[in-house]
Amino acid sequence: MRTESGQIFRLEDYQPSNYLIPEVVLDFRLNAEETLVTARLQVERIARAPADAPLILDGDGLVLEALAVNGTEAEPADYDASPDQLTISRLPASRRFELTIVTRIAPSKNTTLMGLYVSSGVFCTQCEAEGFRRITYFLDRPDILSVYTVRMEADRKDAPLLLSNGNPLESGDLADGRHFAVWHDPFPKPSYLFALVAGDLGVVKDRFTTASGREVDLGIYVEHGKEKRAAYAMDALKRSMRWDEERFGREYDLDVFNIVAVSDFNMGAMENKGLNVFNDKYVLADEDTATDVDFANIEAIIAHEYFHNWTGNRITCRDWFQLCLKEGLTVFRDHEFSANERSRAVKRIAEVRGLRAHQFPEDQGPLAHPVRPRRYREINNFYTATVYEKGSEVVRMLRTILGEDAFRAGMDLYFERHDGQAVTIEDFVKAFEDASGRDLSQFSLWYHQAGTPNVALSSRYDGKEKTLTVDVEQSVPPTPSESRKRLMHIPLAFGLVGPDGTDLDYQSVEGASVENGVIHLRKRRHQMVFKGVKARPVLSINRGFSAPVTLSVESRADEQLFLARHDSDPFSRWQALNTLLTDALIAASKAVRGGKKPVFEDELISVTIDLAADETLEEAFRALILSVPGEADVAREIGRDIDPDAIHTARGALLMAIAQAGSQTFRALYERLLDNAPFSPDARSAGRRALRNTLIEFLVLDSSSPEAAYRQFEDADNMTERAGALTVLAQHFHDTDVGRAALAAFEKRYRDNPLVLDKWFQIQAMIPSAATVSLLRSLMEHPHFSLANPNRVRALVGTFSMANQTAFHSADGEGYRLVAETVAALDSHNPQVAARLATAFRSWRSLEKGRREHARKLLAEMSKRTDLSRDLADILERTLA
Ligand code: ARG
Ligand code: ZN
Repeated sequence: MRTESGQIFRLEDYQPSNYLIPEVVLDFRLNAEETLVTARLQVERIARAPADAPLILDGDGLVLEALAVNGTEAEPADYDASPDQLTISRLPASRRFELTIVTRIAPSKNTTLMGLYVSSGVFCTQCEAEGFRRITYFLDRPDILSVYTVRMEADRKDAPLLLSNGNPLESGDLADGRHFAVWHDPFPKPSYLFALVAGDLGVVKDRFTTASGREVDLGIYVEHGKEKRAAYAMDALKRSMRWDEERFGREYDLDVFNIVAVSDFNMGAMENKGLNVFNDKYVLADEDTATDVDFANIEAIIAHEYFHNWTGNRITCRDWFQLCLKEGLTVFRDHEFSANERSRAVKRIAEVRGLRAHQFPEDQGPLAHPVRPRRYREINNFYTATVYEKGSEVVRMLRTILGEDAFRAGMDLYFERHDGQAVTIEDFVKAFEDASGRDLSQFSLWYHQAGTPNVALSSRYDGKEKTLTVDVEQSVPPTPSESRKRLMHIPLAFGLVGPDGTDLDYQSVEGASVENGVIHLRKRRHQMVFKGVKARPVLSINRGFSAPVTLSVESRADEQLFLARHDSDPFSRWQALNTLLTDALIAASKAVRGGKKPVFEDELISVTIDLAADETLEEAFRALILSVPGEADVAREIGRDIDPDAIHTARGALLMAIAQAGSQTFRALYERLLDNAPFSPDARSAGRRALRNTLIEFLVLDSSSPEAAYRQFEDADNMTERAGALTVLAQHFHDTDVGRAALAAFEKRYRDNPLVLDKWFQIQAMIPSAATVSLLRSLMEHPHFSLANPNRVRALVGTFSMANQTAFHSADGEGYRLVAETVAALDSHNPQVAARLATAFRSWRSLEKGRREHARKLLAEMSKRTDLSRDLADILERTLA
């Protein structure tokens, strides 16, 4: 284990490599205990490198078995091999030469799930970001592009299936029950996109014909017996392939496209060229085992990894500082795909909720970093909501600023100009500047400057002059190592909503540039004057969440209520209500803390109920209307001296107030929504189920009885409604016989289905109770709990730390202790997952004093350990800084 928290990598230190590796031939003798890897590398010294430049190859825990240069065994004096590096100091004078490197690795002992490992008997790889160096010594950096040929041999019985990147070349039998296969990938690629899979798996096959007529064999490989559950993923794959052709003109480029689902995986999935490897959670689904959210995630992640074929693989990153070049852009593309397949407004609201829940706290805490970071210790810690989600928002703003056509022209130019290259964010932005003729230098700050900008607004209408004056001011709060901020270019979509709910026209505007319904803030302050506004408008601002900012709007509650009822932008309607509910919850929490009873305005409650019952709106939208801001959302808005118990009490009171006032309406609606049609995962049906699931909570609260939820639990013919009902039972009736019976029945039914059992762990991890910490401790002793499986750890401990505000932040510090102990136990096994779990502490400074002190102590204790991984040390250090 690496102990040093060590070296810092800096963007400004980037140097092109003195050596290139245009060709790689790999040979794997696969064996779980001991695999021999022979790598034949064609190496080329670049013209301007000195002839005696040493070649320094990366390794990670490797054992060198043999080394040859141009076929001759290397002299020990000519090289130096350590587990982490192979330095060859004497090399042939010719610029091109061949290296043969033999390493020995132990896949079955690889618990980090990086490099080559074994998951449920299947050999698989994860090489991004720096896992390839755990397989062989290499220039393991994304600007080294090589053409790979991969030969694998294994026991035919254990591993009848042998897959790698690209197209299959040949295969055949060998002596002693062994066999082999050779794959060739004609597209030069960085080592992080290398993949190999060998094992015994079932398969679903299909075909796809590209726009220009290429026939592609599609395969999704899953555990035997689970093939039926891959049907939805296959459907999503074909839709993604078509969509990328239609929307971005991007076609697939190999004869095969394979996806393999594995059960032990650090992340969601990986876009290896022609051989995507997936966490099986994002492949397997049917109505009995997966919720509608699972279906939607599968669709999004299948699309995401497929879209990487162009944004990531054909054009890759020069170095890991450019991670958002592929991730932010690809998230944007998968968001657009999902919006296209489902409801655009609902999708947008879900994205914004996700951004606020995950990226805002990151941006506002000690782990804040720019979308394109300038330094890192451990790159695995930068697969963050900022790089992915804010990175996507930045691309989205680019489209807002340029408009659809210029945006597409910029994308086309980017693909044309950089195909086959490893490039930077500057290259990306330049393509849009050149295609549109616009100067995007101020806009680029979104990539380089961390922190969530705040926009403060106030407006006044002059009825006599018919003018609306709007004062706007931007500010960006300081973040770690960036105390002074520069002014941003912030595009704010807006409307002037007139008394009848439609947008009012205006004759002219001065004070800021306005194009196509978008205000462009570029200065600290703008005073804008809209002339010729016929009636007093309500300003609807940041429509569709056109910029990822926080807003401080000086406006009256009745104006927000008006927008909630009448804004023509559905996102803004949801936002207006959400703002009002959040403000009400903040006030209520304050009341609770002061020993008072929380009260809520009748008008707020009734607008909520009216919108939920409005049949002109789609069900999924109404479900979002009813999912009142979560405890973490309220905590984030309060921002300091947070008391999670007070927030919980306040939110409970709000739910009860809505439940009681909506009693009749909700009951009738719930029955009306009952659908006797056979299950379908489509967006409309999913929306109906989502609304029913939000209603059931209000029904049980109103009746103070678990009965309705238990009935739904029993009668449900799909996982969405079954898990939804169980969640409500666990939240409100966990210490009743009915609650216990439902949990037991669920466990009994799904004990042998790991993905569903994860839901059982997850639902219990969210129980808001003083007893949850000890419940969790006993669940960690459950025969099916294991620290070795990341999905299980995330389901139980991850959910607890992220989605259980009162128990994780329990006042005695025991919730923190549980998470800290798990992090410490996990670290020697799987540092990446341990470090990710530790980020649960990132907002510790915003808590009230007692909790803050508990958290600080535990963090300090943890960081004193001498055997920390680099991953965890890095997170702890930054969290405490
Ligand atoms: N590139 C993968 C994706 O599409 C994620 C891989 C992350 N790997 C890691 N070791 N952090 O999102
Ligand atoms: Zn990605």
